[in-house]
Amino acid sequence: VKRVTTHTIQKMKVDGEKISMLTAYDFSMARILDDAGVDVLLVGDSASNVMAGHETTLPITLDQMIYHAASVVRAARRALVVVDLPFGSYQGNSKEALASAVRIMKETGAHAVKIEGGEEVIESVKRIISAGVPVVGHLGLTPQSIYKFGTYAVRATEEAEAAKLLSDAKLLQDAGCFSIVLEKIPALLAKQVAEAVHIPIIGIGAGMHVDGQVLVMHDLLGINKDFKPRFLRRYLNLYEEIYNATQQYVKDVKNRDFPNEKEQY
Ligand code: KIV
Ligand code: NA
Repeated sequence: VKRVTTHTIQKMKVDGEKISMLTAYDFSMARILDDAGVDVLLVGDSASNVMAGHETTLPITLDQMIYHAASVVRAARRALVVVDLPFGSYQGNSKEALASAVRIMKETGAHAVKIEGGEEVIESVKRIISAGVPVVGHLGLTPQSIYKFGTYAVRATEEAEAAKLLSDAKLLQDAGCFSIVLEKIPALLAKQVAEAVHIPIIGIGAGMHVDGQVLVMHDLLGINKDFKPRFLRRYLNLYEEIYNATQQYVKDVKNRDFPNEKEQY
């Protein structure tokens, strides 16, 4: 199979072929998603929530991101693998940002990194790109800034924030980002951004007028029982499936149904 590259997804935008992205954090799941044809696997810092059980993405460390990313890279035969730079590993210090990106590239074999923010992080973005590491931007609801926002509600519904978002997208493009993720913003603003830049715009809760979509794998599979935001389409109710299977296993063990004659040596 031919590897998806930053050039492949740029061409997808030009050709009008939508880009599919999903998060992955471990080898076994990443292998299934890659076999199923996901274009881009994102080792998101949402691992902090869905893997480690933290309330926010802030606590996850660079070492922990590297552990997840290396596992995903070992599984991905076709997908482009993008890794989030975690909170505290790139903000306000471009030298440290480069060092963090270099560690991810060297220690995981991933193909690109993702960074939250616009103008505030532009020096870090430029420095990483100047080292030859492709960067994805991330604007809108940027979860590492949750304590600044105070809420997970839709961003950029007001003119000033919308104007800054559009200007940030252009800055990120000019700095050399090969793609931008837009999270939880009005569909019409996302459309404006996708039309204003030539790099692919990948949305989550950003509507249909963008160049691709991304979801957190656990959300799409319905592993998180109670997370049902408007933007999410659930393709499975895996919580139920796993719950029922586990309950059945417990029952079978208790009533000596498992293992049976054929299931022993
Ligand atoms: O960490 C993550 O899962 C993300 C996506 C939601 C874009 O950044
Ligand atoms: Na993230």
